[in-house]
Amino acid sequence: MSDIEFGQIVEYMHSGYGIELKDKRTVVAGRLDGKMSGLGYGNYSDIIREIKNNPGGKTAKIFVDILTTNYTFFMREFEHFEFWKDKVLPGLRTRLAGTRDLRVWCAAASTGEEPYTIQMILNDYFGNDDLEWDMGILATDISVQSLQTAVRGIYPTESLSGLPFGWRERYFKRLDRDSFQVVDNIRKQITFSRFNLMDKFLFKKKMHTVFIRNVMIYFDNNTKVQLLKKLYDILEPGGYMFIGMTESIDSERTGFEYVRPAVYRKPLI
Ligand SMILES: C[S@@+](CC[C@H](N)C(=O)[O-])C[C@H]1O[C@@H](n2cnc3c(N)ncnc32)[C@H](O)[C@@H]1O
Repeated sequence: MSDIEFGQIVEYMHSGYGIELKDKRTVVAGRLDGKMSGLGYGNYSDIIREIKNNPGGKTAKIFVDILTTNYTFFMREFEHFEFWKDKVLPGLRTRLAGTRDLRVWCAAASTGEEPYTIQMILNDYFGNDDLEWDMGILATDISVQSLQTAVRGIYPTESLSGLPFGWRERYFKRLDRDSFQVVDNIRKQITFSRFNLMDKFLFKKKMHTVFIRNVMIYFDNNTKVQLLKKLYDILEPGGYMFIGMTESIDSERTGFEYVRPAVYRKPLI
């Protein structure tokens, strides 16, 4: 990979997806090198030309898949979920009792472990009342391959080891010795969709909670500030935003209230 080709790839990922790769040359080359011929390209110049000319095409989508980091797992940063269930959901249940319309967006859903965890918490929390509530989650990501895994909802047995007591029996069905699938009742409550966080947020209704965890670490500061403005606008007043535990935001610049580490709130007024 020449300096010019690397620069073009960095620019493509940054301008299109917000992902900053300028210090990740070894990672970029390591991920792309082995995949080029499989994609039908003999050199970088040809693939760069194709993804630039056809940014919505199949090659471009696979290219972006290869360069995104999709690491995730069930119950990741579980303190967030405990806080949400104990401190946020009771207030929302009371406040939304009239409409029973609870809107949650998981904005970097990757292979699905995070939105499924959230949906299982909702089902646990609302118990028998869940049928009366419209509480499906919107789960989005830029990676097509990750979303395909998410929609299937099939996970290796060992990935379920950190689940709370009883969840495996309640929310999964065994497929074979090595894998389980999330039950239909949970899967059908989540809408998985490809969405680029750099795009305009044209959702019809505002969200009560947004989980946008462990994705802003890949963005530069300017991109983060622009994104946080859109997140602020898409939240209902009083709505919560959860980011990754290692991430932080500048509350003063964005208008969010700091609640606790990695948890922010749009003021109620
Ligand atoms: C490390 S994973 C985090 C998954 C999950 N939120 C968690 O905390 O475990 C980051 C995800 O962000 C997605 N992503 C990166 N840039 C994106 C963008 N511009 N729009 C939407 N998703 C993006 C990646 O595809 C990846 O699946």
